[in-house]
Amino acid sequence: MTADAAQEKQALKGLKGVVAADSTICDVDGDLGKLIYRGYNIHDLATNSTFEEVAYLLFKGELPNASQLKQFNDLLVHHREMEPPVVDFLNSIPSNTPPMAALRSAVSVSGVYDPLAEDNSPEANFEKSIRLTAEMSTIVAAIKRRMTGQALIAPRQDLSHAANFMYMMSGKVPSADAAKAMDLILILHAEHGLNASTFAGRVVAATLSDLYSAVTGAIGALKGPLHGGANTEVLKTLMEVASVENVKPWVDNVRAQKGKFMGFGHAVYKVEDPRAIHLKDLSHRLGVETGDTRWYDISIEMERVVFEAIHKNCNVDFYSASLQHYMGIPGDLFTCVFAASRIVGWCAHILEQLSDNKIIRPSSNYIGPAERSYVPMSARS
Ligand code: ACO
Repeated sequence: MTADAAQEKQALKGLKGVVAADSTICDVDGDLGKLIYRGYNIHDLATNSTFEEVAYLLFKGELPNASQLKQFNDLLVHHREMEPPVVDFLNSIPSNTPPMAALRSAVSVSGVYDPLAEDNSPEANFEKSIRLTAEMSTIVAAIKRRMTGQALIAPRQDLSHAANFMYMMSGKVPSADAAKAMDLILILHAEHGLNASTFAGRVVAATLSDLYSAVTGAIGALKGPLHGGANTEVLKTLMEVASVENVKPWVDNVRAQKGKFMGFGHAVYKVEDPRAIHLKDLSHRLGVETGDTRWYDISIEMERVVFEAIHKNCNVDFYSASLQHYMGIPGDLFTCVFAASRIVGWCAHILEQLSDNKIIRPSSNYIGPAERSYVPMSARS
């Protein structure tokens, strides 16, 4: 290719603004700060729905009626237990394994023992989606127990998805308020259009590989600190800042070093992230309830000072950090909690991708040396 032709074919770094799929699952309006799941505003779902209803909605396209919800919930409850080889795997890894690496590998192991793993029919993929949605929180809870040197706790059948998740992490049945807080976290993180991890999952699925491979790829993408891994980094920031008075000097220092503020900025939202509004409110409530508003107070001040400095709003990961900390969840586990919710969005997108598949294969713009004569070993310097 000539240099002129190469220049005309310039790469769009990060694919920002590129429309890579038609989707009926989720609309993210970055200018208006709106997030819509299958036509329903996230604020309505956060106020009125449960995670189980939202998962059904994302998978099936409609909110369930009472009997549809019961049937769906029965399936989720049925699949809560981990397969024994997954338990053995989690018990065999070092307790300091990074939680997202443990989750990525455990999901892959789970796929090895699923007889439906290689069946790419819509029915089998739907069943695997439900199974993984249920099993993922059991795996995440087990990772938390291993990290903290505690024995694993088997799931209970009589609790909601969110309450059971908290029970398996802590060994205590949570209060109705605590279970509602987890339910809200799960609803708000369940889906977000063609974000990096969902795109990764769709790329893998589009090769007609299997659902476990696609989800494993998505977990790998979510792990990075520019994506879901930011929530863990936010808690480290709050701990480092440690007081409201220290926020301004800390922010000035990061700016002087041209550093990044984790939990701020977004590839799509130009205004406030609608999910952050709910997480902020809940972080405040739990701060007051636990009698320790320090982490919320630092967060509020940081939101103000960072906005003044770089005109970036906080994103979903920012208040998720103080909130999960108040809920007793270790910082290193935050991204796994995110994954235990986003599994629904990933699976919904994988099902959608396969319903009208085309391999995803963009081009690169070659800017290396022009074609040249081969240099034999004896002539190389
Ligand atoms: N701190 C400092 N500067 C920033 C930040 C930030 N948090 N966000 C954006 N900027 C500046 C940078 O100079 C950036 O250029 P660079 O990426 O070359 O450093 C410039 O603004 C342009 O950024 P945008 O076009 O607004 O955002 P982009 O789409 O490139 O990146 C991203 C979005 C990755 C989220 C970015 O804002 C960021 O790194 N934020 C911190 C990490 C984070 O919180 N990630 C979680 C996002 S939400 C989620 O994935 C669940």
